[in-house]
Amino acid sequence: MVLLPLLLCSAWPAAGQLEQIQTCGSVPYYPSDYRCYDDHALCPNLDGHPTLPCGGACYSPDMYQCSEEGQLSLLPTANAGSTPFKLEVHSSNSALNSKPVKVCNLQFQTGADAHTCVYCYNAPPMYVCESYHNETVLLPSGYMSVDVPGGQAWFVEPDTGKLKTTAAGKAGGSGREHAGKNVTIYQEGYFSFSGSSHWLACKEPGLGQLFSIFAPIGNNTNRGECEKVKLVVVSTTDPKEGAYAYT
Ligand SMILES: *[C@@H]1O[C@H](CO)[C@@H](O)[C@H](O)[C@H]1NC(C)=O
Ligand SMILES: *[C@@H]1O[C@H](CO)[C@@H](O)[C@H](O)[C@H]1NC(C)=O
Ligand SMILES: *[C@@H]1O[C@H](CO)[C@@H](O)[C@H](O)[C@H]1NC(C)=O
Repeated sequence: MVLLPLLLCSAWPAAGQLEQIQTCGSVPYYPSDYRCYDDHALCPNLDGHPTLPCGGACYSPDMYQCSEEGQLSLLPTANAGSTPFKLEVHSSNSALNSKPVKVCNLQFQTGADAHTCVYCYNAPPMYVCESYHNETVLLPSGYMSVDVPGGQAWFVEPDTGKLKTTAAGKAGGSGREHAGKNVTIYQEGYFSFSGSSHWLACKEPGLGQLFSIFAPIGNNTNRGECEKVKLVVVSTTDPKEGAYAYT
């Protein structure tokens, strides 16, 4: 999907809030729907973020790049040597848009009530608990940015589609054999499952603004409490941004 239709029915402005129509050249538009470039090119917003003009088309910088000649190409994919990264949600739902994705109970979750759950074994000078920032950081190899011996893998549980990590410790828990499988990581772009650029954020009943992340497989796609979101890679170079272990 490179060319986005010019008339995109996207979200209306928040209820009760009257939005001023603006003009791009002579074309009227709502800024919540479009962005205007150089007073002549209108590009629609996608999942709460602007698309950019390139040689007459509009593109998402989470998937494509534009050459000086105006040619679109896919972003490069990460390889084993690429930097660790965090995940951020892109969504037209403002309760989810730009929220970080965090691991707790070995599950990836997001929303205002999500938090990262960690364990630390304090053994200076090798492991100093205060030095970890305890953010949810992934490695392109299919592992998490942890120091616990044996590491921890991130994976999509094949039966449920749930995005999870394995338990810490040498025994490793189940799921290690699925580490990083079926996910394509575009550099500073989408974290993409089996060629689909979206995931599902499924609201956990009774837990406020807490959403678990699922791959869009099987009957997950019919669940009413789930909505489509994009997950976007945000690189980090700080080796202490992660945790000793995630729980
Ligand atoms: C990270 O978590 C560990 C274990 O709970 C804690 O000791 C440490 O102080 C935390 N780091 C920060 C920066 O809060
Ligand atoms: C990955 O895809 C293959 C082929 O579609 C499937 O058999 C396998 O269960 C998937 N693995 C995971 C971890 O989703
Ligand atoms: C989803 O499908 C699985 C089997 O594929 C079934 O066990 C489960 O009950 C289904 N869940 C719902 C909510 O329909």
